[in-house]
Amino acid sequence: MSGDVVPELFSWSFASNPYPAYGQLRESSPVYWTRLPSGVEAWLVTRYADARAALADQRLSKNPVHHAEDAEGRGKTGIPGERSANVMTHLLNIDPPDHTRLRRLVSKAFTPKRVAAFEPRVQELTDRLLDGFADRGSADLIHEFAFPLPIYAICDLLGVPQEDQDDLRDWAGMMIRHGSGPRGGVARAVKRIRAYLAELIHRKRGALGDDLISGLIRASDHGEHLSEDEVVAMCFVLLFAGFETTINLVGNGALALLRNPEQRAVFQSALEAGDTELLDSAVEELIRFDGPVEIATWRYAREAVEIGGERIAPGDPVLVVLAAADRDPARFGEPDLLDLGRQDNQHLGYGHGIHYCLGAPLARLEGRVALGSLFTRLPDLRPAVEPEELRWRGGLIMRGVRTLPVEFTPRI
Ligand code: HEM
Repeated sequence: MSGDVVPELFSWSFASNPYPAYGQLRESSPVYWTRLPSGVEAWLVTRYADARAALADQRLSKNPVHHAEDAEGRGKTGIPGERSANVMTHLLNIDPPDHTRLRRLVSKAFTPKRVAAFEPRVQELTDRLLDGFADRGSADLIHEFAFPLPIYAICDLLGVPQEDQDDLRDWAGMMIRHGSGPRGGVARAVKRIRAYLAELIHRKRGALGDDLISGLIRASDHGEHLSEDEVVAMCFVLLFAGFETTINLVGNGALALLRNPEQRAVFQSALEAGDTELLDSAVEELIRFDGPVEIATWRYAREAVEIGGERIAPGDPVLVVLAAADRDPARFGEPDLLDLGRQDNQHLGYGHGIHYCLGAPLARLEGRVALGSLFTRLPDLRPAVEPEELRWRGGLIMRGVRTLPVEFTPRI
């Protein structure tokens, strides 16, 4: 908007605290056309009401073929590996009716019941990781805790044999380490993960078990099944969508608690009292306050659409800034305060509409178990570096710290 001062976006200092700049945008240019660091131009939607409406608007397609700059737009859903010639079709780059069919099939296998039954295993993994450093008095919470937990969890859930899980951990690590750097590393990692999954799925087809891959192979809807390629793409997206997000939930969540002593005390009292209601609302609030997904994955206007008074032309990309919407004072009282007991917390951290996070029950479980166990086992946990020394991972979609060094009294 002419005349308004527009904040500097996506700079180094912006990454460590984007909220003031997003606040300015929300006030002065709530639907804002900008050139991203990648050179691609897109609309940023920052107000809660507009963001929620945009997420549910079927005129905004997830399919990159609708991007006006087609050659540039391919593979821009936020999922690595989509620039390869052989683009994978999965939930986050398709629209109904294909999306409806795939989502219905995967929902038959990836059920809340399956996730709930998985809790003891998540607890076991968490305890094992904590055992690895609890007697040492210091650790890097990202590398030693937040990073390995989700990859082992999702591998277990899918039915990846134990002996192969460290390979997947390494490849997944390559994928996020190179997320904003040289594309070669990502492409190599994606290729290896895909080849591995294709081979594993093929093997499982001959001897189905009760893991999620077997469930996906078995799932049928009116006699229809997922094709082998669709199972591979589905496993890939579950791995990818459930991996860096959960690292950030545990990392950003722990950091927010460490930086807000009063709320951390509330959290620790709830742990002692076994107040599960407060622990559940705490995880929701941590996602609203500094969520793992800063910007929802790409959408493209299929036809002219009006959002917040701006005319979006057909083919324009639209980025819904969840981090901005979830701090909108028009929706949340004192939005910049962490309030673990916040009521009516309908945040957009898991998205909204038909692409609402499929893994939300698993994410909530991992967040509750990981953060709960961390602050129970290491009650005097404290940061080992100043907040300004923390480096945030690059990349447009996800938001999380690269490392989180901590200190604590060693526990035997
Ligand atoms: C979709 C957030 C964990 C699987 C989404 C979306 C968001 C999100 C915002 C919607 C994206 C959009 O509309 O552009 C999160 C957060 C997590 C998390 C904050 C916290 C840890 C997980 C986990 C899994 C998962 C653990 C699975 C193992 C998915 C899938 C989709 C999705 C498959 C696509 C759904 C569809 O398009 O129908 N997630 N996610 N997520 N998430 Fe999550």
